[in-house]
Amino acid sequence: MIPTPHIEVKEKGIIAKTVLMPGDPLRAKFIAETFLENVIRFNTVRNIFGYTGTYKGRKISVMASGMGMPSIGIYSYELFDFYEVENIIRIGSCGAYTTDLKLYDVILCTQAWSESTYAKVQSGYDKDTIDASSLLNNKLEKIADDLGIIVHKEKIHSSDVFYSKNLDSYKEIYEKHGCTCVEMESFALFSNAKVLNKKAACLLTVSDNLVTHELTTSKERQQSFTNMIEIALEMAE
Ligand code: HPA
Repeated sequence: MIPTPHIEVKEKGIIAKTVLMPGDPLRAKFIAETFLENVIRFNTVRNIFGYTGTYKGRKISVMASGMGMPSIGIYSYELFDFYEVENIIRIGSCGAYTTDLKLYDVILCTQAWSESTYAKVQSGYDKDTIDASSLLNNKLEKIADDLGIIVHKEKIHSSDVFYSKNLDSYKEIYEKHGCTCVEMESFALFSNAKVLNKKAACLLTVSDNLVTHELTTSKERQQSFTNMIEIALEMAE
């Protein structure tokens, strides 16, 4: 069923087997324009830009996911199921639940924990934790090591709520479930990979800290995300 309701590509093979997914369409554009060669833009539906190009001569795609589990749920499902994508690596930002993590630290997600019903509604899966692909994670860890970039392997919280009125609820999620940081997409991405027998991983850069209330500006974020992006781009095949 291509094109899909949300991706306008009419042929298979235009989108690479490995897709990097930032949340922000302008970050997808920035990555394509800054790091890729021979770039084509394959999607503009809803301004969710998608690009394919080469990195050091190897093919890779980058497409935005939008924010939140429903959004990444749609785009990653269509890439996996209708465009024969094998690997999706989310690259995003997160808020730290502990002072052990500093602004700009790079996180490699081992597991996503969530109170979301996404996986239960999708497939009847009734647990609250889903693993990242260990195969992708092993490759990402090795790449980071070769590049001399430290990655922190962490269990993360995928939340549906950015503006919580319960300012202390993160403490329980940290203490009871062992989640050290929060973002809003990985649990759905990992659920899709699980039901479709595909592989997903997630690299994050710490953009704010819920304990100290420190945060980065959007300009600083764009620049500091280079470490994470360079790790992910090495997954090009
Ligand atoms: N909450 C949820 N998602 C996030 C945050 C946060 O504080 N920071 C970056 N992504």
